[in-house]
Amino acid sequence: MIKLPGLIDPHVHVREPGQTHKEDWDSATQAALAGGVTTILAMPNTQPPIFDKTTLNLALDAAKQKARCDYGQFLGAGPDNANVLPALADKAAGLKMYLDSTFGELRLDDMTLWMPHFINFPKSAPIVLHSESRTMAAGILFAAIYDRPVHIAHVSLKEEILLIKAAKEKGIKVTCEVCPHHLFLTAESPSPSGGGARRRTELVEVGEGESSGRCEVRPRLATQEDVEALWQNMDVIDCFATDHAPHTIEEKDSDNPPPGFPGLETLLPLLLTAVDDGPFGTAQGRLLTIDDLIQKSVINPRRIFHLPEQPETWIEVDESAEYEIKAANQFTRCGWTPFEGWKVKGRVRRVVLRGKTAFEDGKILAEAGFGKNIRKV
Ligand code: DOR
Ligand code: ZN
Repeated sequence: MIKLPGLIDPHVHVREPGQTHKEDWDSATQAALAGGVTTILAMPNTQPPIFDKTTLNLALDAAKQKARCDYGQFLGAGPDNANVLPALADKAAGLKMYLDSTFGELRLDDMTLWMPHFINFPKSAPIVLHSESRTMAAGILFAAIYDRPVHIAHVSLKEEILLIKAAKEKGIKVTCEVCPHHLFLTAESPSPSGGGARRRTELVEVGEGESSGRCEVRPRLATQEDVEALWQNMDVIDCFATDHAPHTIEEKDSDNPPPGFPGLETLLPLLLTAVDDGPFGTAQGRLLTIDDLIQKSVINPRRIFHLPEQPETWIEVDESAEYEIKAANQFTRCGWTPFEGWKVKGRVRRVVLRGKTAFEDGKILAEAGFGKNIRKV
């Protein structure tokens, strides 16, 4: 059994308010605890989006009633809320800016819409960018011009990780996160149907009558070369984040599948298996250590997002337990996982949060409402 600090996931789509059939503060925080995660930071692309005082309170009230682990809530940058957000900054996890299109309505196409947010939002508070490829390069330039920290969400491409490395070497205040699905899957590898994803070295065809909807995710799954560049630049990656983005299995298999994968319950076993064996199905050897994992899932996110220490908080993991990932055993409401059937090592046995056993042997023991906001409100 190994003992680790409670993990922090800085990128979770809780879906409440508005889409609680996919997930809510209760089910998302149960999934978090089952995955060894004791703090989640929630994204603002809900319905309605979290973009002012009223909507922030809507999310925080629901969280206060239902959350079973600790949490923070991001504000969403819109075309005309740059003047109201600074006053809410100390109640929020930070500001999320969607510079590329994805699920939900929050999107800032025009750079003149980015400027007031970069100018107004307190420099001490993090701005997280959903920005891919050249948009990411523009976001980093904004960080340099406005001399403020930005955190790049879900880096997936070789060109992105190389540019972030170069920007860090220049002293630009940029940090980044990478998601397990971009470390373990490529565009060629995920199974489009019920069988779950295959190892990234096995190329599978989309069979007749099979929908590829389950592979839909933003940023898209990339190439083997991109995946390898992420592994080779592990030291440039500040955080692991799941981008837990639950959509129901029916929605994923529909004609118009929304993008997103659940991830809270697969984060730790996937990474622990890679600590032991290296990236799945490759002969690359070990590129990740337990110390890296603690750095990127606890220490760095705590520093970047200014999160309080969680006293008397740890997780106990049976690192030798081998098992198959199964959606049927998960607490997320969405009913599927892209890693169905993957053989992994490392089972979370017990989670202690602020002195209380919150999860033990497959059972959630923390009550709804036990979770605390990471900001004083
Ligand atoms: O795949 C994604 N799903 N990427 C995002 O940026 C948003 C997310 C969602 O909210 O479903
Ligand atoms: Zn996201």
